[in-house]
Amino acid sequence: MKVAFIGGGMMAEAMLSAIITKGALSPEAITVSDIDQNRLKLLRERYGIQCTSDNCRAIQGKDIIILAIKPQIVCEVATALRLELRPDQSVLSVLAGVGIAALKQYLGHDAIIRVMPNTPSQIGEGMSVWTATERVPSDHKRMVSTILAAMGKEIYFDAEKYIDMATAISGSGPAYVFLITEALTDAAVHIGLPRKIASELVLQTFLGSVRLAQASDKHLAELRNMVTSPGGTTAAGLLRLEGGGLRATLTQTVIAAYQKAQELGKSS
Ligand SMILES: NC(=O)c1ccc[n+]([C@@H]2O[C@H](COP(=O)([O-])OP(=O)(O)OC[C@H]3O[C@@H](n4cnc5c(N)ncnc54)[C@H](OP(=O)(O)O)[C@@H]3O)[C@@H](O)[C@H]2O)c1
Repeated sequence: MKVAFIGGGMMAEAMLSAIITKGALSPEAITVSDIDQNRLKLLRERYGIQCTSDNCRAIQGKDIIILAIKPQIVCEVATALRLELRPDQSVLSVLAGVGIAALKQYLGHDAIIRVMPNTPSQIGEGMSVWTATERVPSDHKRMVSTILAAMGKEIYFDAEKYIDMATAISGSGPAYVFLITEALTDAAVHIGLPRKIASELVLQTFLGSVRLAQASDKHLAELRNMVTSPGGTTAAGLLRLEGGGLRATLTQTVIAAYQKAQELGKSS
């Protein structure tokens, strides 16, 4: 199977790196098209793939075409591809907030796969959710599942509505986690810990807690209670956290991101 990437930026490289490292496809089966010649040179040197700056040429003879450009230019880029697309090709989009209906319209094409990956895909720890139209052949779907599994975990949804919901959780989620991690590190520095040690304590605490939650069949509240002795330090800290409206803030955060994803979908 042959694959073309339109756009060779950060997300394309995360996918490329996973595909090649895990052997899902050989470098000869992959072509990347990008307007930035320096970027193409770097990707060619790093991964041994085929490179071009001609999007229409890139998709010739390919089975799956991966759109990895910014959503703002999708109309222009997709419209230019429509005459070149063949009915037996599938187009996979990772573009945030661009729905299948809009992609079908721009591309004049019915075989569409929509994926929402996230940035930890760069190290094979990603969370991708995806869906596909009826016209996508099952061997293309199997290939997509293999590619996404190489990047981390993947979940297929029959209904597109779940992609916008997942955008607000796993797509934007790394930014929430980085902000919370940064704030906790600053707090540790505030009470006197050296920054390097503060950072190590915070990162390992997140990592360890997540791994414990994954390994355990206990409810999260039970795991939290195990850290909380009556009248102890954790209880004092948790009272402040709840008093500051952590749950309500997180819910509002997710609702705002979800609404934005829906708005972008309507305007694309
Ligand atoms: N970052 C995330 O966490 C995340 C998560 C999920 C989904 N996504 C989606 O992934 C997509 C790509 O994001 P990214 O962060 O990888 O963006 P990016 O790093 O800006 O990559 C886009 C690449 O496409 C190139 N490009 C611009 N115009 C082009 C054209 N006409 N033809 C071919 N290539 C062109 C850009 O070159 P120039 O830089 O020279 O313009 C750039 O190298 C976005 O649609 C985003 O919504 C991102």
